Amino acid sequence: MINTVFYNLCNDAAEAVEQAVSGLIGKPEAGVTLRIGADGTPTENIDEAAEKAALKVLESGNRSMRFVSEELGEKIIGKRPEFTFVLDPIDGTFNAVHGIPFYCVPIAISGSDLSDIRYAYIKNLVNGDIYTAERGKGAFLNNKRIHVSSRSEFSELSVISYSHRPHAVAINNHNVRRVRTFGSAALELCYVASGIFDAFIDLRGMLRVTDIAAGKLIVEEAGGIVTGGEGKSLSTPFDVKQRVNVVASNRKVHDKLLELV
Ligand code: IPD
Ligand code: CA
Repeated sequence: MINTVFYNLCNDAAEAVEQAVSGLIGKPEAGVTLRIGADGTPTENIDEAAEKAALKVLESGNRSMRFVSEELGEKIIGKRPEFTFVLDPIDGTFNAVHGIPFYCVPIAISGSDLSDIRYAYIKNLVNGDIYTAERGKGAFLNNKRIHVSSRSEFSELSVISYSHRPHAVAINNHNVRRVRTFGSAALELCYVASGIFDAFIDLRGMLRVTDIAAGKLIVEEAGGIVTGGEGKSLSTPFDVKQRVNVVASNRKVHDKLLELV
C-alpha cells in the first residue's frame, strides 16, 4: 500500500541524503563540528551534508511545505505550505560517523504537531530497508505489512531502554529477557513496529520531535502505542528545541511498563 506522492517525495529526499553521506561514513571528517544547530546540539559535517542534500531536492520540486529539520530548524518552501515535512537528516549520527552500521533517515509528513502525523518514511541507510506508514492504513516494511509483537510475559520481553537510574534499574531488575540500546531512536521504533522488540523506553528528556515523529506513526499503525513517560498522548509541536520522553510498546505491556517507570 503506497501513498505514491508522499512516498516519492520522501524517497527522493532520502536517496539524496544517502548519496551525500556515502563518502563520509566512518571517516573522521564526518564528525567535525561546524556549529550549534537549531536544536541546540552540535551540527557535524555529515548532518550538514545530509540536510543540504534533502533541502535541495525539496526546493527544486513544485510543492510548497513547511520544512522542519534538526540542524536548520524551520524553513518555508514555496508560497502556500500544504503540510509540514519533518526531517532528521541522519538519525544515529554517532554511529554513522564511527562506521557503526545502525543509522537511518526518518521523515514524517504532518500537520502541526506529533498528534497529527499523516505519513511516515524511514530508510535504513545500511541495508536499504524502507519502513512506511499512512494514517489509518497500516505500517509496512519494504511494502509488506508489519505488526507489533503479541508478547505479554515480562520474562519474555525484549526492550530497548535508554533510561538512567532509577528507571533503568526498574526495567533491568524486572527480569525482562533482553535490554538493548542501538543509537538510532527512529530505527529502534521500527524494530518495535515489526515485532522484533516489544518496547522502547527513553526517559532522559532528550529526544527531539525529529527523532521520533516518523517512528511514532509506524508503531501506531503496526498496532502499538506511543506515549510520554506518564502515559499521556504526545502532541508536542514541531519545534526542534522541544524535548520529550517516550514509551512505545506493543500495547499489551504498556500499562505495566508505565507502572514500573
Ligand atoms: C540521536 C538518536 C539516539 C538518541 C539521541 C538522539 P541523532 O539522534 O536518535 O538514539 O538516543 O538522543 O540525539 O543525534 O543521531 O540525530
Ligand atoms: Ca535524530
